[in-house]
Order: sequence, then C-alpha cells, then structure tokens
Amino acid sequence: MLYKLKGDHINRLNEKVVVITGAGSGIGKETAIIFAREGAKVVCSDYNENTANETANIIRNEGKEAISVKVDISNWEDIDNMINQTVSNYGKLDVIINNAGIFDDFKTLLDTDEELWNRVINTNLKGIFYGCKRAVQEFLKQNSNGNIINVASVASLGAMAGGISYTSSKHGVIGITKQVACEYATKGIRVNAICPGGIGKTGMTQPFMEDKEIEKIITSKVPMSRWGKTEEVSNLLLFLASDDSSFITGTCIRVDGGWRS
Ligand SMILES: NC(=O)c1ccc[n+]([C@@H]2O[C@H](COP(=O)([O-])OP(=O)(O)OC[C@H]3O[C@@H](n4cnc5c(N)ncnc54)[C@H](O)[C@@H]3O)[C@@H](O)[C@H]2O)c1
Repeated sequence: MLYKLKGDHINRLNEKVVVITGAGSGIGKETAIIFAREGAKVVCSDYNENTANETANIIRNEGKEAISVKVDISNWEDIDNMINQTVSNYGKLDVIINNAGIFDDFKTLLDTDEELWNRVINTNLKGIFYGCKRAVQEFLKQNSNGNIINVASVASLGAMAGGISYTSSKHGVIGITKQVACEYATKGIRVNAICPGGIGKTGMTQPFMEDKEIEKIITSKVPMSRWGKTEEVSNLLLFLASDDSSFITGTCIRVDGGWRS
C-alpha cells in the first residue's frame, strides 16, 4: 500500500468530482487517496460504512476534499442516493469509477448454487449497470462531458482467473462498457474498462496470497512473475479519469503484468 504523500502530484484531476465505489478497501481506497492528491473531490462509497469513512478521513486529514456514502451497488435506491448526495455536496458529477466487486472463490459450475450466482451477478454486473445508468442520467441532465470507468478483470478476457459466476460477471462488464460507450459517445460521455491481473494485498486477494497453488499461477502465467500493486492500478485509472485520455472510449486496458498477452 502506498498512502504516503509522494510529492509528485500535479493536479491532474483539478476540481473534478469523482465517485468511487468500493472505496473502503484495496484498489478503491488507494485510488480515492491518489485522486484527492491530484485535486479531485472524492465521494468514497462502500457498503461498509466504517471503511468508507476511514478513507474519507485519510483524505481530509491531508487537507483534501472527500465525503463518504454508504451504498450497496446492487440496490438502485442506494445508487440514486449516492449520485444525489454527490451533486448536493459538490454541485456536479464528472467521473464515476465503478470499482466495487466481490469474488466467488474460484467456485466451478457444479459448485455454484443460485445464491452465490445471484450475489456475484447482482454486485459485479447489475451494480455496474446501475452505476453506468445513474451516471449517464446525471451527465445528460448537466449537459456536460462525463467519464465512466468500470473495473473489470483478466477474468473478463478468458477463463481460470475466477470461478463461473465471477468470470461471467466480469465478461459482462466489458459488454456494458462497449455498449454504453457507443450509445453516448456523441454526448461527450466516455466509457472505458480496466482489466487488472492479480493485485496483491487487497481485501479480495489477501486470503490467497499464502496459497501455493495461486502463487504458482502468478509465477507461471504472469510474464512479470509477481503480484501487481494497488497503486499500479490507480495510476491507470488516473490516466483514464484525466483529460489526457480524451480520445479513448469503449476500450478495456489490461494492467496485468502481461498475463493475457
Ligand atoms: N485484487 C485483484 O487481484 C483484482 C483483479 C482483477 C479485478 N479486481 C477488481 O477490482 C475491484 C476491487 O477489488 P479489490 O481487490 O480492491 O477488493 P477489496 O475487497 O479490497 O475491495 C472491494 C470493496 O468493494 C466493497 N463492496 C463489495 N460489494 C459491495 C456492494 N454491493 N456495494 C458497495 N460496496 C461493495 C467492499 O466492501 C470492499 O471495500 C473489484 O471489482 C475486483 O473484482 C481485483
């Protein structure tokens, strides 16, 4: 984890209002902190109210801007409330990072019951659909440019980086990303996805980091032969959230040490 002030932030998100789901942990937390240092006003949302609050407090203690909102992304009323709170606090929405997600612990087809399937699809796929839909409504209402970034996975691009429900949900995230990008490109709304590989020391991966089988996958399948760091994902998100990526939409960019090369 980074969280240390590096002194090399150059205000790349000057005054942009950014919503980040799953900001209480891992990639979302790192990204919230880095974005605030780059001048963003950050809405830290998570269904864990305490961790969302902790992230917002870290940001405010650095003298930067953040609020926290408790949200279950699989619930439309929560998503609606998150965007309404964003606009009532900061006056607008510029960027949403649809990052919150859950894993299925590599459960195979036969080991996946309906409860697990519904939970993973409702969070990882329906949650992204809701996040995109509510953000687009707001961008059109504002009559402004808008920017959506969906956190997909190497599991979006092939098998065996998750189980059946995780892989299916993450493939769907790429579909949503491309579709929404094409539907609203003429309205100045950009939509992209990122596909992280194995990113270490997050809530999702910490339980697997001592697992010998997983370590074998990381060292044999990943050309760079190591776990990625959360800040390596945040740096890609920063580029996509900034105006430096103004001609990029409808794509998914891997940050995976070469895993899916
Ligand atoms: N870490 C990796 O190796 C990796 C690889 C590829 C993709 N990803 C994706 O990156 C994203 C972030 O993962 P992470 O590794 O930082 O995990 P994490 O568990 O550290 O963070 C996920 C956060 O999302 C929150 N969350 C879960 N369900 C939610 C819901 N319904 N509503 C609101 N918040 C919810 C959790 O409380 C948690 O704070 C996920 O979408 C994950 O699929 C992670």
